[in-house]
Amino acid sequence: MQHIYPGEVFADTADFDIGIRQLLPRYDEMLSVITHCLPSTSRRILELGCGTGELSMRLLKCCPEAQVVAIDYSPRMLEFALSKITAAGYEQRWTCLEADFGDWANDPKELGFHQKFDACVSSLAIHHLKDEMKLKLFQRISDSLCEGGCFWNADPILPESPNLAEVYKSVREEWAVQQGTTLAEIRAKIGATSTYGHSSQDQLATLDSHLQMLTKVGFETVAVPWKYYGLAVLGGWTRCN
Ligand SMILES: C[S@@+](CC[C@H](N)C(=O)[O-])C[C@H]1O[C@@H](n2cnc3c(N)ncnc32)[C@H](O)[C@@H]1O
Repeated sequence: MQHIYPGEVFADTADFDIGIRQLLPRYDEMLSVITHCLPSTSRRILELGCGTGELSMRLLKCCPEAQVVAIDYSPRMLEFALSKITAAGYEQRWTCLEADFGDWANDPKELGFHQKFDACVSSLAIHHLKDEMKLKLFQRISDSLCEGGCFWNADPILPESPNLAEVYKSVREEWAVQQGTTLAEIRAKIGATSTYGHSSQDQLATLDSHLQMLTKVGFETVAVPWKYYGLAVLGGWTRCN
């Protein structure tokens, strides 16, 4: 089995864009929630774990004045993202950095940003960090946002009970069947992962603990604009003085 980094999901990166839509219910709707929650006037947006660039493409379309800085530690994923961004003519407004966002959480000098961001977003990436690192990352994000800046993260959350874990699993199975496949068929394309950098396979936290962490690091308002069984978009705004 092809060995991949946590979060790359599929052994062949070319399978990601179709496979993720079969594996996760309402992936496109989830990403749209993030872009709807961003002010369209945002000028500087940081994206953590951009993968093949699906969210980056939406950000660049919805926020026409924005420069997007996208971080991912996987050269394979970044290569796919760059080809899409270039084909769409967005390369002047998109910069990618091959880096581990856990290193940035530990030390801001790692990425050397000189200016703050209007917004930070992420999808399906931060759940690979242990809770201690999630907290550090949320602190770094909060410190890197302008006053009144926002952060939105779409991620799987820890099921609230064993019964709900079963429910969430069966919803995913039903979804796969509706897409003309099965979870088993999709999983056959998934690569093997072990820990890489600060990430390891699913390190899920409950919705509640996400919100507590965000409050702890100084987000004035925290919110969950979308939840669908075991997936949520959560985040908030920093204080406006
Ligand atoms: C499941 S993909 C999601 C990609 C994209 N955000 C999307 O929603 O389609 C997760 C991405 O996060 C990246 N990733 C995971 N942990 C990371 C880390 N510690 N630092 C940088 N990138 C990371 C993986 O390489 C992968 O591209």
